[in-house]
Amino acid sequence: MEIQGLKGKAAELAQNLNPEKLPVHVAIIMDGNGRWAQKRGLPRVKGHEKGARTLRKVVELAAKIGIKYLTAFAFSKENWSRPQEEIDFLMNLLRRYLKNEVPTLIKNHIKLLVAGDVEELPEDIQLKIREAEEATKEGTRLNLILAVNYGGRAEIIRAARGMAEEGEFSPEAFRRHLYLPHVPDPDLLIRTSGEQRVSNFLLWQIAYTELYFSPVLWPDFSEKEFIKALIDYQGRERRFGRI
Ligand code: FPP
Repeated sequence: MEIQGLKGKAAELAQNLNPEKLPVHVAIIMDGNGRWAQKRGLPRVKGHEKGARTLRKVVELAAKIGIKYLTAFAFSKENWSRPQEEIDFLMNLLRRYLKNEVPTLIKNHIKLLVAGDVEELPEDIQLKIREAEEATKEGTRLNLILAVNYGGRAEIIRAARGMAEEGEFSPEAFRRHLYLPHVPDPDLLIRTSGEQRVSNFLLWQIAYTELYFSPVLWPDFSEKEFIKALIDYQGRERRFGRI
């Protein structure tokens, strides 16, 4: 397919994309920021900074391609055990992202949603999240979901509790108590940096998700790499337990 504004090798590769077989929902574990920085003799946080720019590019490309949902793992529940300085940096990055990206999101009809225990985040970030969600709620082109203070097991426990309170026990009832009940399950999960783990991300939702592992560190993950992942996905046979 032809993608507006895309040049060079990425545009060439995109010719192999079948617009009829795109994943509806792509989830990404953006791993390798720290190693990217260390390799360059930079502080780890420089990797996060570059990683945020990579995310921006991937969001833009996903919107152009026509992907409907993109979920990015921005901060996990386990990330609280990192050095305070790194946590502060990531929170500031999130503040900046929520402040600066909203006009671009609105302009491009992108709806921002956050999945995770938002109530445990600093108050001002909670407010910024609510404002950003409100400001972008009319967006119909792409749903950008930031997983922040997110953990798959925590989400499962939360849903189990909700289901118990409701008194109905079924996959459908369970789903009603997920952070974002209306978001379809991911079709494709990408993890960068060569690690082949799920790391407590979307555990319930990835039951039938295709997994794609890229050796590229997240800050270096390019438009070309994203398209490569989509082409790989399109070559898979999805059977959902059928024959
Ligand atoms: C994993 O790399 C990445 C994170 C823990 C943070 C992801 C955040 C971003 C990409 C920035 C964009 C986020 C916002 C706030 C919009 P790592 O630090 O685990 O890398 P390593 O495995 O090489 O140490």
